[in-house]
Amino acid sequence: MNPQAQPPLLQMLQIHKAFSGVAVLRAVDFTVQRGEVHALVGENGAGKSTLIKILGGVHQEYRGHVLLDGRAVRFRSPREAEAHGIAVIHQELALIPHLSVAENLFLAREPTGRTGLLDRRAMHRAAAAVLQQHLGLQLDVSRPVADLPLGTRQLIEIAKALGHHATLLVMDEPTSALSETEAARLFAAIRQLRAGGVGIVYISHKLEEIYALADRITVLRDGQLVGTAAAGDLPPKHLVQWMVGREIEQLFPKHAAIPGPERLRVAGLCLADPRTGRWLLEDVSLHVRAGEIVGLAGLTGSGASELLGAIYGRYGAPPRGAIFVNGQRQTRVSPRAALHSGLALLTNDRQASGLVLPMSVLHNLSLSTLDRCRRGGLLSRRRERERCGPYVQKMNLRGPALTAPVTALSGGNQQKVVLARGLLSEPSILLLDEPTRGIDVAAKADIYALLNELTAAGLAILLITSELPELLALSDRILVLHRGRIIAEFQRGAATQEIILHAAMGGA
Ligand SMILES: Nc1ncnc2c1ncn2[C@@H]1O[C@H](COP(=O)(O)OP(=O)(O)OP(=O)(O)O)[C@@H](O)[C@H]1O
Ligand SMILES: [Mg+2]
Repeated sequence: MNPQAQPPLLQMLQIHKAFSGVAVLRAVDFTVQRGEVHALVGENGAGKSTLIKILGGVHQEYRGHVLLDGRAVRFRSPREAEAHGIAVIHQELALIPHLSVAENLFLAREPTGRTGLLDRRAMHRAAAAVLQQHLGLQLDVSRPVADLPLGTRQLIEIAKALGHHATLLVMDEPTSALSETEAARLFAAIRQLRAGGVGIVYISHKLEEIYALADRITVLRDGQLVGTAAAGDLPPKHLVQWMVGREIEQLFPKHAAIPGPERLRVAGLCLADPRTGRWLLEDVSLHVRAGEIVGLAGLTGSGASELLGAIYGRYGAPPRGAIFVNGQRQTRVSPRAALHSGLALLTNDRQASGLVLPMSVLHNLSLSTLDRCRRGGLLSRRRERERCGPYVQKMNLRGPALTAPVTALSGGNQQKVVLARGLLSEPSILLLDEPTRGIDVAAKADIYALLNELTAAGLAILLITSELPELLALSDRILVLHRGRIIAEFQRGAATQEIILHAAMGGA
């Protein structure tokens, strides 16, 4: 060994970690060099987030060694890790909803003026500069983050980490809520940082991204290291094999829909932004038949998510337009009424409206169908289990016992819980907003198969996904939204990624 050689930026050696006696990381070695993007991949629950939470000072109980620039460190808090030049963007966004964009960016390190008081104007200027400089984002930084779409919130979280001038930047699924254009901006920022010598750990389930960015790839499976390889030496097929321990035959199973009767009709629907009064949706009309999957494509701000929310009654009665379910005009428009008439909605923001975090996995599963788990008026745990069990199996939900808090599940497994809950209500119309976000390739294949099974049995699905291959493969028809209007419609097979993107940008 050359004693003069510079030690790697980061070495994690023989890391062991257990939760309540259950090992989730075993003898994991992980190294990051300066100026490299190192992708960390593996199935849901493989241990990726846990490993980087150790690095980021979130988990302090573990065995093994962490060396930064060859020096042993042991962080007792996230702040300590930050002080050592490590910035982590966690999988679950950590912004404080009621604080403004600027306040979130400068949390606990607000610039103070000469008097030592908080200099709000300076903070706003600095915040706007950070967003503009790193991500080309122009934003009113005095707005509370709760008001902003999920994608923008994710960009703010990223800008927050970039603003730390870290030497080691860790991103746990940073693009899960980003549109293609937003993701492209992020990639440009990452490449710039890499050129400046920053080491970057990149966790993602999107193979395209991994191969576009990564210099090296490390794969974890069931808490153990499978291997590390240069990205060029590990073709996608082998990568998937490393991840799941077998080959995946068919990511998208064949889907042949024989559409039945009309399940959902939306006619001339309008929705106004309560803050500005501007139309979020304007004169939207569509229908979905039994057995059909209708895909909605659109960039951020297209109104696609709002459309699902409006159909589900989240905003009350629309100012104009009508919603028909199974031919019946909906007179009372509310989530309760929607659920009652056979609709289920999976939102894109599982933390804000998807999961009840302190409660058990089982309870989160059966939350909206508790009335069906009763026996003689009392909640029957056995009945609850009987109902949930098949979905737990079909989705390959992995992790601790069903009675454990849902927070003990990995990010992808939490997403499966939200989806399973929607299915448990046995809806006739399913509204899905990014159903496979954060879900690994193998589990995705399981979910596609399940959706096929359900549509074959007569379910109608309205689907939003920013992953275009998924949209193209699953949808029988694709509607493209632009600024709150449907501007194009394509039959299955008539569209390509390029055509959809072109239309979504308003160039129909
Ligand atoms: N706080 C916790 N208590 C108990 N078990 C936990 C806790 N956090 C994580 N686990 C378990 O540790 C294992 C690894 O989880 P981790 O979140 O690291 O997975 P991951 O690779 O990030 O998966 P994903 O792709 O779904 O995000 C899982 O089995 C998970 O259930
Ligand atoms: Mg994770």
